[in-house]
Amino acid sequence: MKEQDRLEMERQLSQLSEAKKLVTDLTQKLGRRPTACVVTFGCQMNARDSEKISGILAEAGYELTEDENSDFVLYNTCTVRENANLKVYGRLGVLNGYKKKNPHMKIALCGCMMQEEQVVEKLRKSYRFVNLIFGTHNLYRFPELLVSCLSQEDMIIDIWKDTERIVEDLPVRRKYPFKSGVNIMFGCNNFCTYCIVPYVRGRERSRQPEDILREAQQLVAEGYKDITLLGQNVNSYGKDLDREIDFADLIRMINAIPGEFLIRFMTSHPKDATEKLFRTMAECEKCAHHLHLPVQSGNDRILRAMNRNYDHEAYLKKLETARRLMPDLVVTTDIIVGFPGETEEEFEDTIRLCEQVRYDAMFTFIYSKRNGTPAATMPDPYTREDKQRHFDRLTETANRISGEKHREYEGQILKVLVDGETGREEYNLSSRTNGGRLVHLKGDPSLIGQFVNVRITASNTWALYGEMENG
Ligand code: 5AD
Ligand code: SF4
Repeated sequence: MKEQDRLEMERQLSQLSEAKKLVTDLTQKLGRRPTACVVTFGCQMNARDSEKISGILAEAGYELTEDENSDFVLYNTCTVRENANLKVYGRLGVLNGYKKKNPHMKIALCGCMMQEEQVVEKLRKSYRFVNLIFGTHNLYRFPELLVSCLSQEDMIIDIWKDTERIVEDLPVRRKYPFKSGVNIMFGCNNFCTYCIVPYVRGRERSRQPEDILREAQQLVAEGYKDITLLGQNVNSYGKDLDREIDFADLIRMINAIPGEFLIRFMTSHPKDATEKLFRTMAECEKCAHHLHLPVQSGNDRILRAMNRNYDHEAYLKKLETARRLMPDLVVTTDIIVGFPGETEEEFEDTIRLCEQVRYDAMFTFIYSKRNGTPAATMPDPYTREDKQRHFDRLTETANRISGEKHREYEGQILKVLVDGETGREEYNLSSRTNGGRLVHLKGDPSLIGQFVNVRITASNTWALYGEMENG
């Protein structure tokens, strides 16, 4: 950690002691322990940020709950597509109702949506009951913001345009005891023309490898079995560090930690996915054979207009290399339909590519216009109905292929990590294969967090079903 980052960490830890005192006062006033609820919208990066916020709230003395009718509610927001924003406004109305009955209630908003000026303007004008608004770059200042929020009634708005800071070692409250994400880098430099992420998450900043390794070692020592390395574009890890290290090197370092655990990562940009990475994945026995490689479109004109920096052939070639090195590789992707100006034929190229690749799973999205991005000003003559029709066809294709791929697992014996209960009687447990496919099975809930072998007996589009094997 840099000296300045270390000083900042110490400052925030002392602010946290202040926050503790304020929460103790509140406990006395209320005659009970105040509760806090953190609600996460969006991706795994946000989920990880919420664990940091929850850690600080718990350390300050709040009792964490899932009930939004609590004394401190924080929404960690997403703005990648417009419907994510709309959801937040809707739910704020409900919170206001709770707040009218509980004058001690504090409402806080953070995350990507708060990095948009027009959002903050709207909140400032029409959502005066919100107490605290901060963004993605100053999350590490949450202890300090919490102190301000608890000691004054005015709306506090603290949004930064960018930051160089990477502050380590603040408290965290991990959601699961056996699987967790580890940030390896923040931000994105790619500026895909449809995407708002580079504007709201800032430029790429890699964490120091020692800090990442220390966190991973600690997780393994605590019994974690599934570690996901997180970044908007993990393949450009290290490019901004003043030393020779890339993402593949980082995987090797983590793979060398003794113990039984899986290494996953999210997300890879095809332009930076190298043969070295695939070779490393193949050679490192703890690295999951799963590649989430968002293609976005199968048409070269659209890929150019999206500023993706590869064409469909280069993409297919990379996958071919990856599959040659890992024949059991699970491949998933993200696809956008209805990018401005996308024609019928251009859409057909996407369908063709999906049929060629045969993805295990596809995450499909209808293009959503994000103000401030280059695509927002591109001519878009196609109607919502055209886009919906394409979306439905793509979904059908995706579902059919997933179903077919799942059927190929029937009869196989796979090692899975049991990760939760389903609430159903027949298949009461859920689990994940090395490649991340969902497997339902029957067994004792004490197996949650453990690896077991299952024989796959049935499947459908969304999941596999299995029976536990002995030994
Ligand atoms: N509209 C629709 N989908 C989008 N994505 C990112 N920006 C947009 C947008 N403006 C999708 C991409 C990305 C995933 C996380 O979200 O497919 O890979
Ligand atoms: Fe957005 Fe592209 Fe960066 Fe992914 S790589 S976060 S799609 S700009």
